[in-house]
Parts: sequence; structure tokens; C-alpha cells
Amino acid sequence: MFDAKIYIERRKRLKEFVGSGILLFPGNNDVPMNYPANQYHFRQDSSFLYFFGIDEPGFNVIIDIDEDKTILFGDDFEIDDIIWMGDQPTVRERAESAGIKDTATSKELNHYIKKNGKRKIHYLPPYRADIILMISELLEMSPERVKENASIDLIKAVVSLREKKSVEEIEEIERAVNITREMHITAMKMAKPGIYERDIAGAIEGIALSKGANISFPVILTVHGETLHNHYHGNKLEEGRLIINDSGAESLLHYAGDITRTFPVGKKFTHRQKDIYTLVYNAQKAAINSLKPGVSYKEVHLIASRTFAEGLKDLGLMKGNPEDAVSEGAHALFFPHGLGHMMGLDVHDMENLGEDFVGYKEGLKRSSQFGLAYLRLAKELEPGFVFTVEPGLYFIPKLIDLWKGENKFIDFINYEKLEEYKDFGGVRIEDDYLVTETGARLLGEPIPKTVEEIEDIRSSAY
Ligand code: GLY
Ligand code: MN
Ligand code: MN
Repeated sequence: MFDAKIYIERRKRLKEFVGSGILLFPGNNDVPMNYPANQYHFRQDSSFLYFFGIDEPGFNVIIDIDEDKTILFGDDFEIDDIIWMGDQPTVRERAESAGIKDTATSKELNHYIKKNGKRKIHYLPPYRADIILMISELLEMSPERVKENASIDLIKAVVSLREKKSVEEIEEIERAVNITREMHITAMKMAKPGIYERDIAGAIEGIALSKGANISFPVILTVHGETLHNHYHGNKLEEGRLIINDSGAESLLHYAGDITRTFPVGKKFTHRQKDIYTLVYNAQKAAINSLKPGVSYKEVHLIASRTFAEGLKDLGLMKGNPEDAVSEGAHALFFPHGLGHMMGLDVHDMENLGEDFVGYKEGLKRSSQFGLAYLRLAKELEPGFVFTVEPGLYFIPKLIDLWKGENKFIDFINYEKLEEYKDFGGVRIEDDYLVTETGARLLGEPIPKTVEEIEDIRSSAY
């Protein structure tokens, strides 16, 4: 974990933001996989990590702003626990490492809440069943009402702190991206006709496990990149297909990396693959060149979208005025997702707090237009923001058929030509960026991305 003074400072600012009341932070617990003692890999809640750094199950914290008290609730290991799991720091030692002065047993949390039941108790929206039930019991409300009663004031305070990354957080994210880089270069070197997606997916997950805390989300590695979050790894690699590898590692302190590269199973891109790949590359470049404080990420998304509409027109897949096509949303047939999302302790940072609190500010309404509606980050960029830039072009046969059947956007889409692309798959390119005072900078060491760089690696792959 970071030095205790970092957590003390974060909590001081949090208390100033919220002003008064009790803040309840439940830490995550172990979760059973297929029987109680066989558990999923433990992952602490990210806001708990941000304010307390304690990376173990079984802890909860109360920050009582009015009484100026922070209390860590947890239980010391008894001899049976020590036999099975080894000796552990005491609750008091853990509290000290986070700069917390007061500790109490788990049971005492209930007493504390009951004693102060009339005061305002703020908590973040829970996303795990056991925590929902715990809050339901502590605050005497039905489980259905727990999420809707989460504190908007606390959500806004946490977002305003976590969205601006500090120097030590950026170092952590760069560690994660550099592990992720190794995962991607390994995948580019490993791929060859005849092996399976899972051969590569397993190997790169192993890199994340051996160098970091874990993967930052389940690996997407597929020859069917037209399915955006495809977690199936059972296809055999065949010459002529493209592989999308969207994967990332977590640093040891649980900061994420999130990178996508697309490359051919063969040694070279085909002519058609090169056209589409270059267009995605150009859209990403146009987006990156426009990053600076004050620009809204919605506008950056639209810059990438217009590059797509123009390029697809040049390829004969779209027609008409590209600007009109984008304002009406016709390009979203090929680019049905948002350009990127905040990244930090979560790969989709703070998504559990509510996407609109993170990516949209007051007065900025999320579009309901297909494609744009999936844009998670739309607000104006500020120094310290870290996010992904991940344009992609996809040929989704069922979506093409649906729109064609409805004669949708027939003035903008050349459905006849599109028939030839139904077996194409998809291309996505994703990198992680930090907004600086004057522009933006790439996080981590660059990862091969141009057609030439990728073909250079692929030429000696097999
Ligand atoms: N890793 C999933 C995404 O890029 O959003
Ligand atoms: Mn990704
Ligand atoms: Mn992403």
C-alpha cells in the first residue's frame, strides 16, 4: 500500500467534501465459487482501497465526520485461522498502516450504527449481495431499497477525488500498462494457424498473474472481434482471420491497464484488413491529437466517428455527407460503442458509483442515440484524468441484416457492398492516456501498433 499519509490526506479531503454525518465503507469479503471454502480470488472494493489501502477481506470502516473519528472494524485471527492461513497483522497494525487511530471488533459496527441511527449515514451503492444484506440489516431497510438510498453527496465527493490521478497513482497505472504491454507482445508472437485462442489467452493471463495482482478484467481474445466483449476462447486460429486481443493487468496495488491490439493470424494483413485497420488507426490518431484540457470527450468521440464516416465512404461502405451521417448516427452500425472510459483502480473506473456521475457532469445529458448512448465518458477533460481511447470498426452480421431489413439509413450505408464484409470480424485499437496541463500523454511504453510494426513481429512468429 501507499504511505499512511496519502490515505490520511485523501480522507481529510473527503470529509471536507461531504461536510457532516457518518460515512460507512464496507470492505469486500471472500466470495464462494462452488462451495463455501472454495473461493474466488479476493478483490477488495476500489473505494476501500483508495481511502484505506487495506487489501484483505473482513474489514469495514466508519468515518464519523462530526466526531472527527475514523474506526477500522475487524477481528484478529484466532489460532484456527492462523493454522490454515498463517499469521496476519493485527487489526491495530492494519489500522496504523492506513493512518487510522481507532479499531473495534466486527460486532461493534452494529452497536455504533444503532447508537447513531438518527444521524445521516452515507454509503456508496453496493454491488455485492452480502454487502447489500449487511447494509439492509444495519440500517433496517429492505434489500431492494439499499441501492436507491446510497448517498449522492458521497458518490460525488468520491468521484471528484478519484477522477484526478496523483503522481503515485499514475506510476501505478504505468506499471499495469507495462505488464499489459508484455501480454500483448507475447500474444502477437504466439499466434499461428492451428493453435487455439485459449492457448494465447491462458498464457497472457499467466503474465498478469506472475507480475501483477491479476488481470484487470476477463481477457477478450478472439477471432470473432465483431462481438465486443467476446470471452469465448475455443476457436482454432486460421490464416485469413484477425485476432482482437483486449486485455489488461492490474498492478500490485490494483491499478488497471486496458489495451487492445488487433493483428492477423497470418504473417501479414490482407489488403481488406489493412484498409479497415488503417482507418481505425487514423481515427484513434485523430482522437488522440485532439486531447487537451477543456475539450469534451463527447467531441473527441465525434472526431473519431467523423474520421470513420469519411474513411468508410472512401471504401464504398458508406455514402452521403459524412458529417450528416454521424449526426444521425448511421456510422454506429460499424462503431456501436463509446470511444473510451475513465480508468484507475477499476478498469471502468468507478462504474459502480453510477456511470453518469463519472462520465457526465450536471447539465450534460447522455444521448439516447444508438452508439452514442454507450459513451461512458462525455464530459470536459481535466488534467489528471486517465482514460482509454479505443475506436473500433465491426461487421456484425445480425445487426447488418436487421438494419438492412428496416431500410435504415439507406442514404448513408451501402448494404450491397457490405455483404462482402459479413465474415470480416472486427478491429479495435485501445491505448491509455493521461490529460496533462497542455495536452495528453500516452501511459506506459508504446506497444507495436502500426501495420509495419505488427507485421514485423508477425513475420518471425512461426
Ligand atoms: N476492456 C473492456 C473495455 O475496453 O472497455
Ligand atoms: Mn479494453
Ligand atoms: Mn477499455
